[in-house]
Amino acid sequence: MTERALLRVLGGESVFPPPVWLMRQAGRYLPEYRETRARAGSFLDLCYDPALATEVTLQPIRRFGFDASILFSDILVIPDALHRNVRFVQGEGPQMDPISVHEIRDLDPSHADAHLAPVIATVARLRAELPAETALIGFCGAPWTVATYMIAGHGTPTQAPARLFGYEHPDAMDELLALLAEMSADYLVRQLQAGADCVQIFDSWAGVLDDASFRRWSIAPTRRIVERVRASVPGARIIGFPKGAGAMLEAYREGTGVDALGLDWGVPFAQARELQRGGAVQGNLDPLRLIAGGQALDDGVRAILHHLGAGPLVFNLGHGITPEAPIAHVERLLQLVRHDRLA
Ligand code: CP3
Repeated sequence: MTERALLRVLGGESVFPPPVWLMRQAGRYLPEYRETRARAGSFLDLCYDPALATEVTLQPIRRFGFDASILFSDILVIPDALHRNVRFVQGEGPQMDPISVHEIRDLDPSHADAHLAPVIATVARLRAELPAETALIGFCGAPWTVATYMIAGHGTPTQAPARLFGYEHPDAMDELLALLAEMSADYLVRQLQAGADCVQIFDSWAGVLDDASFRRWSIAPTRRIVERVRASVPGARIIGFPKGAGAMLEAYREGTGVDALGLDWGVPFAQARELQRGGAVQGNLDPLRLIAGGQALDDGVRAILHHLGAGPLVFNLGHGITPEAPIAHVERLLQLVRHDRLA
């Protein structure tokens, strides 16, 4: 079998038309997802049910034929495995018990393997059920992004509670990030061994950090994950998505050793092309262009193909698809990516 297109690009090859998938492609914009979600009980029940999680992962593949599927789960299964009482409240986003400085040294990762076993079972099932040409992406949250939720106990606009915690208790922050890096690496290794073709590390809150904090709380723990994963799975392909990293993107790639960089829509094409000299990039359509459709969508997609299509590119959004995105606009996006010629 020829190597899956996504993996060729992650290896640095330029492929045109580029492989395409969308972050959060299994989700509430799909009626079939809403239907399965209603049957599952809580959101975490859905994540830990291999049959239902496989079903929702496959839904966007059946409907759109994306080049890659992403395991259906959530980055917050790691704090859930640490007994932080994670729950997803309808309309309010994720919540958990906020962690105090003194609780950090008592965190116990010894149940994580058993706790996450259903997610690993989903990966194995997916590999067996996916079409041969469809890549399977595993994932975890970056330690910094997961820590922001653990510290505040919920999402916040600029993750001020976690930043303040890190400045006031730098040793405790290092300890928490080191534990999360170790657990996340082991979790990714198990996903790769169960059949994931590559993995993505979501650092959705990288963009709120200053230079020194970015190096210490985003780059360093992510590098530990990359090294630990590659020690067990030599040559493992890893995508890093440090959202909002901007001028720090090159430092992030060099410092972490990831194969490919996920870019948000704030990254200018000139910078993205420069980054492509050193490896693949993934992105970076503004998800709101997908809601708007029409000229805004056509122009946005064509601009990415025009500026980045000649180098190693994985076409994606610059962040997750939103529930408001019309299905017809996703179809239009695919039509443009797959059938437009390089201008
Ligand atoms: O299709 C896929 O992309 C795979 C599944 C996936 C989910 N979450 C499912 C999900 C992935 C890769 C994630 C990653 C994730 N989860 C991130 C990093 C990427 C990003 O978006 O920044 C973060 C920060 C989380 C934490 C999280 N999970 C939040 C903040 C929320 C609430 C926001 C929302 O959209 O409701 C979730 C819930 C969540 N995770 C949903 C889905 C499909 C929606 C919940 C539902 O269906 O009721």
